[in-house]
Amino acid sequence: MRIGCVKELKNNEYRVGITPSNVKGYVNAGHQVYVERDAGIGSGFSTEKYQEAGAVIMDSAKEVWEISELMIKVKEPLKEEYKYFRKDLILYTYLHLAADKELLDEMLKSGIKSVAYETLAERNGSLPLLEPMSQIAGRLSIQEGAKYLEKPFGGSGVLLSGVPGTPKAKIVILGAGIVGTNACKIAVGIGADVTIMDINLERLKYLDDIFGARIQTLMSNDAAIEEAVAEADLVIGSVLIPGKKAPKLMKREYLKSMKHGSVIVDVAIDQGGCCETSKVTYHDDPTYVVDNVVHYCVGNMPGAVPRTSTLALTNATFKYGLQIADLGLEKACIANDVIYSGINTYNGVITCKNVADSFDMAWQDPREIIK
Ligand SMILES: NC(=O)c1ccc[n+]([C@@H]2O[C@H](COP(=O)([O-])OP(=O)(O)OC[C@H]3O[C@@H](n4cnc5c(N)ncnc54)[C@H](O)[C@@H]3O)[C@@H](O)[C@H]2O)c1
Repeated sequence: MRIGCVKELKNNEYRVGITPSNVKGYVNAGHQVYVERDAGIGSGFSTEKYQEAGAVIMDSAKEVWEISELMIKVKEPLKEEYKYFRKDLILYTYLHLAADKELLDEMLKSGIKSVAYETLAERNGSLPLLEPMSQIAGRLSIQEGAKYLEKPFGGSGVLLSGVPGTPKAKIVILGAGIVGTNACKIAVGIGADVTIMDINLERLKYLDDIFGARIQTLMSNDAAIEEAVAEADLVIGSVLIPGKKAPKLMKREYLKSMKHGSVIVDVAIDQGGCCETSKVTYHDDPTYVVDNVVHYCVGNMPGAVPRTSTLALTNATFKYGLQIADLGLEKACIANDVIYSGINTYNGVITCKNVADSFDMAWQDPREIIK
């Protein structure tokens, strides 16, 4: 199959869909890979490395889109890329179609076939192509929180670990899933005073087993949250109710009792955020202040560490990409439930129930269309 990789166009997005070592894997399996010049530069992969791995380098994105049968990206296509959609193209990338009706309409109009990273699910319900980004965002949330606690960045001037003779910073993590667990790991490692809250007692038991006396686990409810955040230097928002808007656990009035210069990193902002005062920010201006509390609400946190993020993402995407390339989307959909679960659009039809439900539209099982 002819596989394409173009430079991402989104603001401050430096990740890339295919690494040079992926190219080698696809080429060794008998496929051809076409890469736009400098597509991987933001992630530290030079054009020469792609060439050495066996890719054909093209000067424009247009050439790559036009020659490819399978386009492997990171983020959803932007408006200027819609013109490349066509019926005989498979698009394999993050799409988040439930949040982008215009993109969905364009995809349906063109008949492009799409496999969305975020809906691709293992049989046990885990989301293998979302998990690495949640791991990164969770770990990064403590690093970003530490930075914005610094006085020159508007924070209260507290060092997370403290030093002998001074208090450690208090970190409250709301949600003990993948993001929360990874935040917890870094926060414990740095020596902060960590409280983690969830409504799922099994998660709290698990974290209690792993971290023991080094953390405080608490059942999440309004009273416990209000009390914990009043003492906190750093709050991490990491809740998720799959497919729904994040619950607003942090009420606006709680900010009044928080310390001046304390920081909220609302990782759940991509689902609307779990603080009433959260609104999306971007890497070039990531924070704002409400009631003396610094808010960091970047929706694509992993984009700040593109080298690690690209490696972690492509470690996960490669095996399904190879199966799609080897078998073609139709056979891969029949053979592998994981790939089947990722197909969002096919020949002008929505093939993912959750996407269709978001707009009260009809959907069809992709296996029904293909058979
Ligand atoms: N901003 C970014 O760049 C970025 C990157 C990766 C992930 N995310 C987002 O971070 C969020 C968390 O992702 P995840 O992978 O950790 O999800 P997850 O499903 O692994 O964990 C979510 C946790 O929230 C808990 N929860 C639900 N309701 C709660 C409540 N009322 N109080 C406390 N806990 C509650 C769940 O029990 C679960 O343990 C998602 O919205 C995800 O999309 C954002």
